[in-house]
Amino acid sequence: MDNYVRIFDTTLRDGEQSPGATMTSAEKLDVARALARLGVDIIEAGFPAASPDDLEGVRQIAVEVGQPNTARPRPPLICGLARASKSDIDKAWEAVKPAARPRIHTFLATSEIHMRYKLKMDREQVIERVSEMVAYARGLCEEVEFSPEDAGRSDPEFLYLVLGEAIKAGATTLNIPDTVGYTTPDEFGALIAGILTNTPEIVNCVVSVHCHDDLGLATANTLAGLRAGARQAEVTVNGIGERAGNTSLEEVVMALHTRRPAFNLITGIDTTQIMRASKLVSNYTGFVVPPNKAIVGSNAFAHEAGIHQDGMLKHQQTYEIMRPETVGVTQTRLVLGKHSGRHALKTHLSDLGYALSEAELDKAFARFKNLADKKKVITDADLEALVADEFYQPHEVFTLDGLQVTCGTMGMPTATVRLRGPDGQVRTHAAIGTGPVDASYKAIDAIVQAPSTLLEFSVRAVTEGIDALGEVTVRIQGTNGSSHLLNAQKEVEQPRTFGGHGAETDIIVASAKAYLMALNKLLVATGKYGATEKAATAVPA
Ligand code: KIV
Ligand code: ZN
Repeated sequence: MDNYVRIFDTTLRDGEQSPGATMTSAEKLDVARALARLGVDIIEAGFPAASPDDLEGVRQIAVEVGQPNTARPRPPLICGLARASKSDIDKAWEAVKPAARPRIHTFLATSEIHMRYKLKMDREQVIERVSEMVAYARGLCEEVEFSPEDAGRSDPEFLYLVLGEAIKAGATTLNIPDTVGYTTPDEFGALIAGILTNTPEIVNCVVSVHCHDDLGLATANTLAGLRAGARQAEVTVNGIGERAGNTSLEEVVMALHTRRPAFNLITGIDTTQIMRASKLVSNYTGFVVPPNKAIVGSNAFAHEAGIHQDGMLKHQQTYEIMRPETVGVTQTRLVLGKHSGRHALKTHLSDLGYALSEAELDKAFARFKNLADKKKVITDADLEALVADEFYQPHEVFTLDGLQVTCGTMGMPTATVRLRGPDGQVRTHAAIGTGPVDASYKAIDAIVQAPSTLLEFSVRAVTEGIDALGEVTVRIQGTNGSSHLLNAQKEVEQPRTFGGHGAETDIIVASAKAYLMALNKLLVATGKYGATEKAATAVPA
């Protein structure tokens, strides 16, 4: 058995399917580019049957990211999910077929509870449908993945039968999902070992593992499955996904990398790209990464606390099992100052991996000078936040032209907001609120007129110090019921949400920018302002 583990990333499907994590098509394309830079083997780009927009989003990824180029002669496989029906499989095929290496992924539940209450099918009917639909998909596409949904709670003897039929029908990858995150590492490892021993012809297929984190065991279960012989791991960036999430890409990859002798398994991931992908997904979904999250949390490499720092100074490995630069953590060191010129900024951004056009560089330089006037020490982290703030923007329907607030203990918090609208006209509105952010949001709402609910609001300092840039992340949901997303597994429509972020030394301005970014996405999704979203170009090819 070879020791190469294929990394199948499902951030754009299972991750995006989790309530609140929706991304726009332009954002998904950016994330797909980031996944290709990471070196993932397979990108599950979405569920094309959800809507014509979803189909088109997956197709765009197949057309752009699924093609070979000089840097990557073997591009990632582009995969589309389909329920076990001809119509879903046709749509998945239409979306992925432009890719140099397309894959169709179809699934059907095999646990008693799912078969009885969700599918209303008996075992024979399930076997027949799997056989028929896998064969149908294989008639279209060379690469077919089949998943027995809720395998973790399925009767193993029945699983062997279903998987055997899927292989006969032409499946090339068999994915074993612990859909509800129920199993323990021992059980899941034994399930994979049992499947490998008892399923006829399985040697010609790749066995894959797909775990959810309901009991906090997704990474442990995935690693147990790989130890037992699985050679594909299904993961998401930052572990986003249904309920408690999916197995996180960074945890599995870094466990295999850091404990290489213990696992003797390798992946094709460029670990130095992990942090950037994590920030991108967090910014786009509005899902903030907790500070103590393994690998990508802001505290994961902080060794300040007294005794730790003393130990670190004596020998780095006293408290550090991975080097921060291995996962692309930018150091909080002084990189540029007030007197640094445009060329120095360009060189530094290029070292960080950002290839800006001349026009983008002009904008970045203006932002940098502005920041340098307010903040003595400008770090890599500041520059990355500025680039994200300036360039990872959706189609800007309304832009912030001016903001002034009065707040404190002496009066009513008031905000005056000036926005430039899609017609180029400037509109001004003043509002009072419970605080300056609330007042600003009320004034913005009065101008933009896109009813929404604020689901999440968080502020964090990009670096230490009183003059730090504040980064605000928000998540909103439209309240007019206009935009919904079909969940492939639950077969229900769930409301779409929109994330926004802003970075400024003034956190009220950052808050207004974050909110406006989310509202702009909501407006574009309504179709009223066109779908010409601006995908970031300030990223390496
Ligand atoms: O969790 C799950 O069962 C899934 C399948 C569609 C693979 O996401
Ligand atoms: Zn899943």
